[in-house]
Amino acid sequence: MKRSRGRFSFRMTEDESKQFEAIAAPVVTDPRVTRMKKYIQHGNKSTYDHCIDVARMAFLINRRFHVGADEKKLVRACLLHDYFLYDWHTKGDHLHGYHHPSIAGRNAEADFSISQKEKKMIETHMWPLTFLHFPTSRGGWLLTLADKICSSREVIKKHSFP
Ligand SMILES: [Fe+2]
Ligand SMILES: [Fe+2]
Repeated sequence: MKRSRGRFSFRMTEDESKQFEAIAAPVVTDPRVTRMKKYIQHGNKSTYDHCIDVARMAFLINRRFHVGADEKKLVRACLLHDYFLYDWHTKGDHLHGYHHPSIAGRNAEADFSISQKEKKMIETHMWPLTFLHFPTSRGGWLLTLADKICSSREVIKKHSFP
């Protein structure tokens, strides 16, 4: 029996790319957000590129598994989830992992008119590290999951042989 191929793909279609870009463009082209290009997240991946990867991953999981999260809120929160605006390798304390979600949430609220739901998604993205601050929306859980997938890939790539 012939296997049907190409029905499930974890790459964006052309249409999906356009839809994603339409939501992401106002945020990723903002000069306040492009400052994240200066900061390294893991390996040689900038915080800016990391946030875009997380947004694309969350957008795709939401589509492929019919999670039903609001796409606009999801993509915006993902793009701003690490908007803490410093190099965490040299600045910040040893509790950066615990503190940065609330710093990013505050910055995102001050610079962009994000909703309380988007802010909460950003503030809880490090769960379970932030034990009592857990996601309370589908989008929040997706952001948390997509961030862990992307961060793990970055760390594994950094420590793997070329
Ligand atoms: Fe983070
Ligand atoms: Fe992140």
